[in-house]
Amino acid sequence: MSRQIQSKPLNRSLGAAKAAKQDEFYTQYVDIQKEVEAYLEFDPDTFRGKVVYCNCDDPFESNFFKYFAANFNKLALKKLIATSYDGSPIAGQGSLFPEYNEGNGKRQKPKAIAVILDYVKDEDGDGAANIEDVKLFLKRNKAARIALKGDDKFPGGDFRSADCVAFLKEADIVVTNPPFSLFRVYVAQIMEYKKKLLIIGNLNAITYKEIFPLIKDNKLWMGVSIHSGDREFRVPDHYPLNAAGWRIDENGVKYIRVKGVRWYTNLDHGRRHQRLEGMTLAENLRFSKHKEIKGKAAYDRYDNYDAIEVPFTDAIPGDYDGMMGVPITFLDKYNPEQYEILGITKTWDGGACKTYSMQTQVSKDGSKSLVSKLNDGPAIKVSECPTGKTYYRVGTENFIQLYARVLIRVLTRPARGRKK
Ligand SMILES: C[S@@+](CC[C@H](N)C(=O)[O-])C[C@H]1O[C@@H](n2cnc3c(N)ncnc32)[C@H](O)[C@@H]1O
Repeated sequence: MSRQIQSKPLNRSLGAAKAAKQDEFYTQYVDIQKEVEAYLEFDPDTFRGKVVYCNCDDPFESNFFKYFAANFNKLALKKLIATSYDGSPIAGQGSLFPEYNEGNGKRQKPKAIAVILDYVKDEDGDGAANIEDVKLFLKRNKAARIALKGDDKFPGGDFRSADCVAFLKEADIVVTNPPFSLFRVYVAQIMEYKKKLLIIGNLNAITYKEIFPLIKDNKLWMGVSIHSGDREFRVPDHYPLNAAGWRIDENGVKYIRVKGVRWYTNLDHGRRHQRLEGMTLAENLRFSKHKEIKGKAAYDRYDNYDAIEVPFTDAIPGDYDGMMGVPITFLDKYNPEQYEILGITKTWDGGACKTYSMQTQVSKDGSKSLVSKLNDGPAIKVSECPTGKTYYRVGTENFIQLYARVLIRVLTRPARGRKK
């Protein structure tokens, strides 16, 4: 039971963590277990004979290491490598091993180390090979941990340091929750070495110009578990609990709830082969549960992209052949056999068919300023100036701007939706 629970609406985002360089969010065992096991349902051999590398993971504290060590034989791993970062603080109580409590009773500062497991066997002779045996093995074999020194560019344990790159080259699948502030660089490195990955990131990373092209080209996609709300992470003892949505458990361990968290991967899984079965365009206009669509004569069209606006994934018309702008959360349901991703409504993607000159932004409170940001996303022309909503005036025309949209087109349709 929790010692304290904060139940206000959640407002901390990974984006905020990134801005504050608060990279210390520790993933819970159950989240890792749930995600990894979904791949096994699709292909039980996903991890068989593979070298798994957790490269932002203190082996004595990370649940990634704990999960893969505990399931080493079940997954039929060839090897498990975990490396910790020199600057990484101790997460707090509840560490997997008493490692940092040993000695004079004070908690010791962790050093950058690598722990490598080639096998997990029944060390304690209780008839099973499990995490207790890993603990015993690491206690008995101090040589199983290697000190990481770093190099002239990066500190020990930095995923970019020479030691860690050597481990990466040996690895088949990299699985971790990397520092949010280094997400772009992190993914670029995995792609450079052509490795499989299963990592946690911020939903908004979809819109990064370094990340989106990988998604568009089906080199990276969303993982299986979707948390439409938020996900709970352990944070270090010193972490300031000024966010809403936090708790401290009975052992004094701090947790915060984080919005917009997703798994990113290039491992295949079942959900990306499931079809989205939506209504036709005409059916949506008649029966949609969304007031933004039901009863309208047509879907809105963007003024600066050659596409219709589909504000909800479940309102994607199954029979529409043209380009559609859909929310980025569509990617949670994306099936590459059913849809083609054509772009994203960001200036850097270059898909806009129109550029606006300077605009007057009219804010909710009626204040006006000269801006150019209407070009940053999809714009819809409105016949009346909206009240209580920011809009933009260009000459005599008024526009509202929407969030970033992914531009898609249907590739194949079920027979029912095909036009005669
Ligand atoms: C979001 S935390 C996640 C920790 C752990 N993977 C987990 O999920 O519980 C990111 C971790 O990466 C470490 N880190 C920060 N910069 C790093 C770097 N350049 N190379 C490797 N690890 C880094 C941080 O100290 C932190 O422990």
